[in-house]
Amino acid sequence: MRWSVPVLGAVMVGFTGVFLAATPDRGGVALQDRTARTEARVTKNPLQGNQDAIREGGTKFRSRCAGCHGPDARGYIGPDITGLSASGYTDERLFGIVRRGVPGTEMTPADPLRVSDRDIWQVLAYLDTLKAAPSTPASGDAQNGERIFRANCSSCHMVNGRGGQLGPDLSRVGSGRSRPVLLNKVRGTSDNVRPGYEAVTVVTRDGQRIRGVKKNEDEFSIQIVDMRERLQGYLKANLTEILTEPRTVMPAYSAEQLNDRALDDLLQYLTTLRVTDAERR
Ligand code: HEC
Ligand code: HEC
Repeated sequence: MRWSVPVLGAVMVGFTGVFLAATPDRGGVALQDRTARTEARVTKNPLQGNQDAIREGGTKFRSRCAGCHGPDARGYIGPDITGLSASGYTDERLFGIVRRGVPGTEMTPADPLRVSDRDIWQVLAYLDTLKAAPSTPASGDAQNGERIFRANCSSCHMVNGRGGQLGPDLSRVGSGRSRPVLLNKVRGTSDNVRPGYEAVTVVTRDGQRIRGVKKNEDEFSIQIVDMRERLQGYLKANLTEILTEPRTVMPAYSAEQLNDRALDDLLQYLTTLRVTDAERR
């Protein structure tokens, strides 16, 4: 199946009739609009302030975005997306995020065959009308939160190149998740398990049980990162059981282990882990 990607690429070049190579990456706006006649990049939202567009955009937001960003766009599984323009995101960049998604996260790309450029501009015109959530006064102490993180969480989580790898890298988790989502994760009151980190236990023929996070599985073998962070591969022929678990391998932190004050500091620290202005442009 290795050839499928170049073939698809060739079909798309033929289809759009523009040169993908001429405008790498940033050309997404013009290229993915099948009706676009020119390569001109649209950098401002052409529908900004247009009342019909805002109304339709609101309807589309509720059906396509609210499930993750919340009905008021102030964050649920995904982050708060109110007030992004005011904080320096250009229209072009917002368009690019919605069109191409954020790789490696639940923010998936919008298929140009199903979602037109116009649809996206409508949603963005609607978002533009929402007031930014009032910035909640910083309550916790982020510095103490960082210490708590180093003591409890670093063994499994990398932040800016330091830490373990059993769990996902959290360097940008403050941009990607709202505070309530982070809180539920730490307290263990969330059912969400990040895709690619499902818990699994394998039982070998000689009765050993190895628990970890599943990384890969095919007909004949399975690869897991065990609880000591070693990548291990097993041939299924050598296993008697593979138990996938609905729960995460991440421990839940009760109020005895982490009181509300400490949790507040920790969450304050996590919300400082954000996309940098340089990445944002
Ligand atoms: C034993 C390893 C381990 C420890 C210790 C641990 N985690 Fe995790 N964590 C994981 C794994 C594995 C996942 C991915 C599976 C999941 O979503 O539950 C995860 C997921 C997360 C997520 C969700 C990431 C996302 O993209 O939604 C957050 C936030 C998080 N951990 C924060 C913490 C914090 C804060 C601590 C310390 C108080 C901590 N973790 C301690 C293993 C760990
Ligand atoms: C399945 C869940 C999901 C859906 C549906 C979804 N998003 Fe997202 N979105 C996310 C997540 C998670 C992130 C954070 C990604 C990261 O870690 O940076 C995100 C990020 C974003 C960002 C960037 C925020 C920032 O601070 O950089 C924008 C803008 C955005 N989404 C807009 C939308 C719009 C508009 C829609 C509907 C057309 C939508 N999203 C649908 C989950 C979703």
